[in-house]
Amino acid sequence: MKHFLDLIDIPASELRAILDDAKASRAARVGWPKGKVDAGAPLADHVLAMIFEKSSTRTRTSFDVGMRQLGGQTMFMTSSDMQLGRGETIEDTAQVLSRFVDIVMIRANNHDDVVNFAKAGSVPVVNGLTDKSHPCQIMADLQTLEERGLDLKGARIAWVGDGNNVCASFIDATPKFGFSLAVATPAGYSPDMARVEQARSEQGRVDLYDSAEAAVSSADVVVADTFVSMGDEDAEKRLSDLAPFMVDDNLMGKANGGAVFLHCLPAHRGEEVTASVIDGPQSAVFDEAENRLHAQKAILKWCLET
Ligand code: CP
Ligand code: NVA
Repeated sequence: MKHFLDLIDIPASELRAILDDAKASRAARVGWPKGKVDAGAPLADHVLAMIFEKSSTRTRTSFDVGMRQLGGQTMFMTSSDMQLGRGETIEDTAQVLSRFVDIVMIRANNHDDVVNFAKAGSVPVVNGLTDKSHPCQIMADLQTLEERGLDLKGARIAWVGDGNNVCASFIDATPKFGFSLAVATPAGYSPDMARVEQARSEQGRVDLYDSAEAAVSSADVVVADTFVSMGDEDAEKRLSDLAPFMVDDNLMGKANGGAVFLHCLPAHRGEEVTASVIDGPQSAVFDEAENRLHAQKAILKWCLET
């Protein structure tokens, strides 16, 4: 059984194959209508259930359209519409859904729920974002960078802002793809050190900074994300503590010439990034969003191939 829960758990060669498949599948569809099924309908006869405990625009639509392009079928559910929202256990839900569908994607408040679903069920499970990580996003991000000609091996990626769930999956990717990650956060917003140590123990390079300027110096890529993630309760304090870490033109100017700007979206212009950067020439955010589709199709195929 192949689950896609966290990048750190998946061998580098398999992640490499997923990324190559995503790039090839994007290239093969250029100019096609969005609803046309891929050659060979690789996931024909398969059903994907998508369970959301939190809001989503990109993850929901990219998994749904992606599964249809693979020739499969989809079901969208929110936990509040399910008995999950009335206290049915994750384990019972997993066993029941495993009788009806071939693969499940979950966006959950608590990471452990996704892990426990995977343990209790008998079909592959894909992590569609938790409080701890967002692995599908990072596959799309890395695809976007390679498509812009960046050699990930030896590249320097700067993460600026909150050491959150998306940052965590970037950390996991360092030993898998050979880039170095420079993480700049204010005190109290550092990434999970156990995660950093695990990446380092597998030869991942993660450097922590309290200065955004120091992190972006010589960076090939600058990444920002919201200062208030879904589930964060202290919005006002976060916005004030993180304000000095907004990515603006001045900060982009300290990175390498032509550095790419990424943001998983949704964005808050004037908080974590200025409009001039996210809507400017160095920004790749809409290619990045589109690549959620191509990366996830490759992930779904990887999970279901025997
Ligand atoms: N980047 C991302 O996961 O977007 P959604 O929350 O819209 O799915
Ligand atoms: N860090 C953000 C990412 C949204 C896609 C959140 O968890 O809300």
